[in-house]
Amino acid sequence: MSLEILVRYLHFIGIFTWVSALVLQWVLLKPLLSRQQIQQLAKIDMVYGLSAMLVVGMGLTLWFGLGKPTAYYSENPIFHAKVGLAVIVGLLSIYPTVFFARHRKGDDPTSEVVLPARIRQVVTLELVIMLVIPFLATLMAAGVGR
Ligand code: HEM
Repeated sequence: MSLEILVRYLHFIGIFTWVSALVLQWVLLKPLLSRQQIQQLAKIDMVYGLSAMLVVGMGLTLWFGLGKPTAYYSENPIFHAKVGLAVIVGLLSIYPTVFFARHRKGDDPTSEVVLPARIRQVVTLELVIMLVIPFLATLMAAGVGR
């Protein structure tokens, strides 16, 4: 098996894990959250972060290291749109991450925290963008936009 195939495989595994973590967060986000629920969300957020790093790491390897020439991607505006959207998802995720990290700890594990409505909206937006990215990826891999 070539290294390129392994990298492509890991790019996909990262994507599945990233989207799974997002869906889990989306399902678990309730208007009132116990400290325990926030700790669970923070753990899922760690999986989210690690999988995002895997996707970006493997994506950059495919861009600059293996497979098609770097210019194949660098000269394609659809590829730039895809990477731009991935960056936007990453930036959007900062808000929930900071919220979970801030409210993870506390003396009383039974105390509840009110979830700002914005957080669920941000996670929903992230999910929608994550659905668009594979479409752009498929287009650019097929050579559209060159
Ligand atoms: C900065 C982040 C990313 C970079 C640099 C990147 C880069 C790449 C590259 C270079 C390829 C190879 C395309 C080819 O076969 O010629 C690829 C494939 C792909 N990427 Fe990404 N990617 C990133 C993030 C994402 C994300 C977040 C998703 C999904 C939500 C995604 C979905 C895909 C898919 C589905 C393919 C396979 C396309 C196909 O073969 O039809 N990528 N990516």
